[in-house]
Amino acid sequence: MIDDPSRPIGVFDSGVGGLTVLKALRTRLPDEDFVYLGDTARLPYGTKSPASVVRYAEQATRRLLAEDVKLLVVACNTASAVALEALSRAMAPLPVVGVVEPGALAATSARPEGSHLVLATEATVRLGAYRKAIAALDPAARVRELACELLVALAEEGWTGGEIAESIVRRYLDTDASHPDSVILGCTHFPLLVDAIRACLDPGVSVVDSAVTTAKVVADTLDRQNLCRDNGTGQLRLLATDGAKRFARVGGRFLGAALTAADVELVDI
Ligand code: DGL
Repeated sequence: MIDDPSRPIGVFDSGVGGLTVLKALRTRLPDEDFVYLGDTARLPYGTKSPASVVRYAEQATRRLLAEDVKLLVVACNTASAVALEALSRAMAPLPVVGVVEPGALAATSARPEGSHLVLATEATVRLGAYRKAIAALDPAARVRELACELLVALAEEGWTGGEIAESIVRRYLDTDASHPDSVILGCTHFPLLVDAIRACLDPGVSVVDSAVTTAKVVADTLDRQNLCRDNGTGQLRLLATDGAKRFARVGGRFLGAALTAADVELVDI
């Protein structure tokens, strides 16, 4: 039934990165059930063309529709930047929440009329998604976007701190002369590198992670639509399109909980 609050929330990402968003969602909404789908067979999305990202995202989210979800979270910055409109149309009347607008909201609330530096994938930067979202909320804000593709691989490899991580982060930040008030983690993988990123910034710079704000937007949306679940047991199903073992090994770090391959269902989309 369309208005049945006991249905699960669908969370979609290109791979394991969206587990950082899932973690914030489960903390905020402990009674809700979640079905997470990581499209690991086609990861990364960040270097693909917009047409491919839209096609992949539509196929993956259709699989979540089959799980009878009551709301879809696009927990991938690249898919949110490139495909949110297409997904909202395809999933209507299901509510669809992306991560870019909540990230922009968090940054503009933290530093009104500020200067923001967005660290993201190539595809997110190419579309200027954060620039547009921030301009809509705070026309006086200044925005620079920086593609940091190597940080995705670093996070997956688990090389998130120390000399290697910091020197790569510094190498990217050295290409920016904007002296930002805030740095937005515009990719699901970058919260894992937050210590290395902070170590390369002046102490007063705010570091913005959209996961917590996204969870708040989801909670508010459920509330508005009378779809909140109370007294649930917070079940989680993890679906992936390839590599259950790798998903469990790498994803456990993103979720902050140990996973085994048996926790991951392989699906064909
Ligand atoms: N999940 C993607 C994002 O947040 C990063 C990984 C990828 O490129 O697919 O942009």
